Amino acid sequence: LAALAEPYRIKVAEQIRLLSRPEREEVLAAAHYSGIHIDAADVFIDLMTDSGTGAMSSEQWAALMRGDESYFGSRSYQRFETVSREITGYPHIVPTHQGRAAEKIITELLVRPGDVVLSNTHFDTTRGHILHRQGVPVDCIGDWLWDFGDEREFKGNFDLKKLELALARHHSRVPFILITVLNNMACSSPVSMQNIREVKSLADRYGVKVMFDACRLAENAYFIQQGEPEFSGVSIQDIVLEMFSYGDGCWMSAKKDAIVNIGGFCAFRDESLAMRAKELLVLYEGYPTYGGLAGRDLEAMAVGLREGLDQEYLAHRIRQAAYLGRLITEADVSVSRPVGGSGVFVDVRSIYPHLSAEQLPTVAFAADMFLEGGVRVGGALFPMKTVDIGSGNIVDRSFEFSRLAIPRRTYTQGHLEYVADIVARVKSKASENMGYRVTYMPETMGHFFVRFAPV
Ligand code: F0G
Repeated sequence: LAALAEPYRIKVAEQIRLLSRPEREEVLAAAHYSGIHIDAADVFIDLMTDSGTGAMSSEQWAALMRGDESYFGSRSYQRFETVSREITGYPHIVPTHQGRAAEKIITELLVRPGDVVLSNTHFDTTRGHILHRQGVPVDCIGDWLWDFGDEREFKGNFDLKKLELALARHHSRVPFILITVLNNMACSSPVSMQNIREVKSLADRYGVKVMFDACRLAENAYFIQQGEPEFSGVSIQDIVLEMFSYGDGCWMSAKKDAIVNIGGFCAFRDESLAMRAKELLVLYEGYPTYGGLAGRDLEAMAVGLREGLDQEYLAHRIRQAAYLGRLITEADVSVSRPVGGSGVFVDVRSIYPHLSAEQLPTVAFAADMFLEGGVRVGGALFPMKTVDIGSGNIVDRSFEFSRLAIPRRTYTQGHLEYVADIVARVKSKASENMGYRVTYMPETMGHFFVRFAPV
């Protein structure tokens, strides 16, 4: 890889500080060994999430000043609506304050108790909303997801055999097929246009709607452009339009590829569905020309949606992840390959082969990354349901990984090299880590409140 010159320069600097080793030890113990409970001010490099943590551009900050804060019919809404229509190709736009607010509305409209939602992979809040509606979220991604070393190019694809088996058995209970482009829960691996077309044709055969979770739409389109010969030289915008042409609508957490700190929306082809979404919106979020956001937030989204599709920006972003992935691999740590869009996904078993699943190697890695270098990383063991190809049954499985999510336009090559050095140091001392145990875990949304202690 050639030098990674950032296609932007730094206009505003935000100080970060590396605590001393004894201070880091104290902070980690006080946080019950969970990165979630560490104060951001005590973190040197924060790779917990790429959501809402990107740097807005000077154009976005300038747009904030144009924000029209009128309750009804604000000009900022009109600008946002125009851009999101042009980018998605869907005529009806419903703004929400973030992705899960859109999920709440869509699942309330479409999911009934006992319904089965088929996706390549659901994000955890999406899964949560479907379960909350007493539906069954099923992840039809191929079993290749569980093999970090499986180098197929579009690892986020549906396994069409699984999808077909599930449709044959459950189609009358399937309110929609959900294509997530692309998902942190699946190592940020992309979905190919070929796969999207095949999913659409199966959906048509069974008369089922197709929806997109669009939060990383631009990253996915970039992989299609680079990886599918038919799309070489086609613009990111045109690829996005073709992806969504196979759907009935989408929702988006704009905190990802629209590079804003807060925001989201749903978009629909069908006007009557959009009208019902707007009715719920008034109950939960606000009037349809602001949807739980300030006018200035809508302005920032309108600008960020376009900036997120920029070819040079995307090429740099995807290469940043690939670069970090390569450095970590060179430290003899296994990561999901090929490296996907928004971060690097580490197979913690390759660092702590001596720890069993009960000794929580993901927690061990996050603790060691903070102790060794003030780096905060995420990850967990996520429960999911998938289809067993042999029997066609829906079965429980889990997927464990540690995630080094890269915020957009925030960290430089120097930061990434530092992180890779810390991973290498953690790896060299890993045998000293005896694992962790859970000391507190409430029943609802437990992974946000959990506490640990060293074994
Ligand atoms: N869908 C996907 C694929 C996501 O990654 C997220 C959020 C959401 C929906 C929900 O959007 O946070 O705006 O309500 N992912 C973040 C993450 C939190 O860390 O990956 P939200």
